[in-house]
Amino acid sequence: MAQAVKTRTQETDIDKKVKSLLAQMTLEEKVGQMTQITLQAVSTQAKTKDQEHILDVKKLEEAIVKYKIGSMLNAWDAAFSLDYWRYIIKNVQDIVLNKTRLKIPVLYGVDAIHGATYTLGSTLFPQSLAMASSFNRDLERSAGEICSKEVRASGIPWNFYPVLDVGRNPIWPRYWETFGEDTFLVSEMGKAYIEGAQAADMSRDDKVAICLKHYAGYSVPLNGKDRSPAWIGERSLREYFLPPFKNAIDAGAETIMINSAEIDGIPGHANYHLLTEVLRNEWKFKGFTISDWQDIQRLHIRDNVADTQEEAVRMAVMAGVDMSMVPFDFSFCKILVKLVKQGKVPMKRINEAVSRILRVKFMVGLFENPYSKTSCENTFAGDRHTEQNYEAAKETIILAKNENNFLPLSKNSKLLVTGPTADKLSVLNGGWTITWQGNVEELYPKEKKTVLEAVKEKVGEENLVFVAGTDFNKEINIDEAVKATKNVDVVLLCLGESTYCETPGNIVDLTLEETQLRLASEIFKTGKPVVLLLLEGRPRIISKIEVMANAVVVSFLPGMEGARAIADVLFGDVNPSAKMPVSYPRYVNDFVHYDHKYLESRDGNVYNPQYKFGHGLSYTAYEYSNLRLSKKKIKKGESVKVKVDVTNSGKRAGKESVLVYLSDLFATVSPCNKRLKGFEKIYLEPGETKTVEFLITPEHMSFIGLNLKPVVEKGKFVVSVENLKDEFELI
Ligand code: BGC
Repeated sequence: MAQAVKTRTQETDIDKKVKSLLAQMTLEEKVGQMTQITLQAVSTQAKTKDQEHILDVKKLEEAIVKYKIGSMLNAWDAAFSLDYWRYIIKNVQDIVLNKTRLKIPVLYGVDAIHGATYTLGSTLFPQSLAMASSFNRDLERSAGEICSKEVRASGIPWNFYPVLDVGRNPIWPRYWETFGEDTFLVSEMGKAYIEGAQAADMSRDDKVAICLKHYAGYSVPLNGKDRSPAWIGERSLREYFLPPFKNAIDAGAETIMINSAEIDGIPGHANYHLLTEVLRNEWKFKGFTISDWQDIQRLHIRDNVADTQEEAVRMAVMAGVDMSMVPFDFSFCKILVKLVKQGKVPMKRINEAVSRILRVKFMVGLFENPYSKTSCENTFAGDRHTEQNYEAAKETIILAKNENNFLPLSKNSKLLVTGPTADKLSVLNGGWTITWQGNVEELYPKEKKTVLEAVKEKVGEENLVFVAGTDFNKEINIDEAVKATKNVDVVLLCLGESTYCETPGNIVDLTLEETQLRLASEIFKTGKPVVLLLLEGRPRIISKIEVMANAVVVSFLPGMEGARAIADVLFGDVNPSAKMPVSYPRYVNDFVHYDHKYLESRDGNVYNPQYKFGHGLSYTAYEYSNLRLSKKKIKKGESVKVKVDVTNSGKRAGKESVLVYLSDLFATVSPCNKRLKGFEKIYLEPGETKTVEFLITPEHMSFIGLNLKPVVEKGKFVVSVENLKDEFELI
């Protein structure tokens, strides 16, 4: 309560400051605030190999003084040191403070997706899909906390994260940037991240303003490719894709980036309905919207909805885009000034957008602290951060198959390690790691461990043979790998994906590459036991080889400490506790989600993925019992308490994510067979029992009805937890 009062006074104060500043601004200054350019636009091509980046101070001055730009983003092409970031920020804000009339600091933003991507040596956590496999909000909260500290330490107060797209199409190359296929899981992890990264006061010198993305419906491209059309009816949009954004706004998000593609023929940046009617009129969002990369220009040059660049700018601004990530030139400023002068964009709209931007600049403390001074530099990538990263990684390794308790392996085993993901750090991290594509292996920190190195530490050099076998899609020496099986007890077959991000990651077949499958079959022919380890950003189809493996371990990009965690799981130093945050498909054309409609599971159709949503094994066993509901009959508006006992009936301590689902049996809009409505991760010693409690609220019972509004209908609901079920009735 005290906090709410404080926020209100703070906001009133900020509102006054915004008003007074706005009143002093010229049209050009206002439009400049709405403009964001990339660092590349004010850089000169480096002339020698050692000159990593040359800041073109003249161009920078032109951007800030002549065009009055209000925001900048990202890096040259690879991560900078903390000191170099400080140098960039100092140059930028020095020009603002010494050479501009109103001294409005530039808001600098970066894609710090799983840590401070563009700062050398930063703590790089598991990517979102891996974090979602932990089903552990505390880990996500603390990842947010650490990420903000390291971004602030770089002098940057704004982060383009979290991604709140719901991953419903596994071939989409940004699948791993999501928290998986379930709306509730995405919402909860997003909220936890915001709590850690931004908290209630983003002006703190260890917090940053977060930016939600990509609003909305980006993640279900019809053809599976990045930046391609989605067809999502309004009802499904509201049921599956909007809730994470709405919840994040309720949790304090103040900036939101727009969907770079289109839904139902309306490009994200021209979507007045979503950007204004829903975001502003319905949700009362007070922060600002930012375009994605070049996407206003693309309304003309790519989407063909605007026949000129002028029309593209008019369309986007009038739809509700407040800031343009232009990002290479000043065309946006010039055009928008002209449009206002011609009366094609009203001044009122400009004032609205600029006020929203200034408000965030005040909220993030830029005016008092333009250089982002902070004490966080002292803890940057320190031991505590690394250990927390390792703690997170340990809970993101999914034990998907373990025939006859084949794992854990003995540390006395003799091992052949083979496959393209065995000895690379990039495959643990994915895109947005040091570079955009994350694929420049040479730039990775030498002290971090690959799977091969981490496994070597467990068994000793003398007990391990490494033969690459294949690269991702070309053979290196499969024969040699086969020969090397002779003197070992077990093969660790490391397959998966190389590193990619956005459009360069488009593929046409989700099946694991032919060469890797061939390496697998040749190894299986030898009859040696095989542990299949998959490191990948999306679930590549493995049905042809999976049956042959004695054990399968999957990790969706576990980050810089990932290999340590994998080795710990393989050799039993860590008891795995991750679960699938997606339905891992068995066949290339069978993408049924766990929360499918009844219609999808009849007449011979079944939900039959390789691994179900929520699947994940442990080295101990958990027994669920005594599911009980506080009420069997409820009235409208009432909630139901759910309790369940979970016992560790095995011999090892472990962590278990308890997942509770709700099924609405009959509804006017066809209901899902079940939907996740709660999860809690608990720790249990052998023999220990804990009671876990959930509250099923009216919101959980609701769905988007025929009138496109949330509705709760009378009837029976089934609560299920593991193999237990009970029901209640809304009368
Ligand atoms: C991506 C965004 C990112 C932006 C800035 C775009 O290509 O879609 O997720 O924030 O670039 O780097």
